[in-house]
Amino acid sequence: MSHPHLFIYGAGAFGKEIRDIAQRANRLARTWNDIFFIDDFAAPGTWFGDTQSFSLASVLENFDTTSIEVVVAQGEPVHRETLHGKLTQYGIRLGRVVDPSAIVSPYACLGEGVVLTAFCSVAADAKVGNNVAVNVQAIIGHDVVVGDHTVISSMVNLGGGTRVGSASYIGMGSQIKEQLRIGDRSIVGMGSVLHHDLGDDLIALGNPARAMRKNETRRVFNKS
Ligand SMILES: CC(C)(COP(=O)(O)OP(=O)(O)OC[C@H]1O[C@@H](n2cnc3c(N)ncnc32)[C@H](O)[C@@H]1OP(=O)(O)O)[C@@H](O)C(=O)NCCC(=O)NCCS
Repeated sequence: MSHPHLFIYGAGAFGKEIRDIAQRANRLARTWNDIFFIDDFAAPGTWFGDTQSFSLASVLENFDTTSIEVVVAQGEPVHRETLHGKLTQYGIRLGRVVDPSAIVSPYACLGEGVVLTAFCSVAADAKVGNNVAVNVQAIIGHDVVVGDHTVISSMVNLGGGTRVGSASYIGMGSQIKEQLRIGDRSIVGMGSVLHHDLGDDLIALGNPARAMRKNETRRVFNKS
């Protein structure tokens, strides 16, 4: 039986983590024929360890797009959204990379392009949107809804029934009280404890978390 190739879009730190997960998962249950990176900035033919990288243009030139799957390896939601837009524009299918140690309820729903890293959990009736990244040991409670392109960092706890919008970023170790609403393109700073709803385009910090300012730059990292 032939399997698709997996392309990990981004050969940076997150890309390397995703490669580990994909290799681990592939050893347990063969899902992909081969695993590659897409890196538009690396010189053609660059290898990262044992993994070859291609530009998106060379993938389109050299591979049949019906035989590939791609996941986005970016920690910045706005970049996730942009790359996702490119992939859909070219009709490229998104894959799903799930660490074998992740606990996913059979009643949960995972979108296309979702990445679940080690020891995270997704409870019953949760809906994780397209192109969402869930980091190590994050807990997605029952009935939680996570919007497209959002990043849930390591050790975040999203209480039951929470709704997080699209292209938002929940910083590491944050605790989100059950049933709360977090809007689109918002950031919850690391270690925050959120007790109230948070609207769109805001940055909230602290315990108890307060909305501090507008998320004008739409950047979590490297704002300069
Ligand atoms: C929320 C965040 C994006 C703000 O970044 P920033 O705009 O660059 O803010 P700064 O780091 O310049 O900090 C501004 C002020 O807010 C404070 N602050 C920043 N983040 C805070 C947080 N999470 N909780 C409490 N205070 C915080 C800083 O101490 C600083 O205070 P000061 O002016 O008195 O020195 C960032 O702190 C954050 O949480 N990033 C996510 C980190 C993460 O989850 N990383 C995972 C990597 S895998």
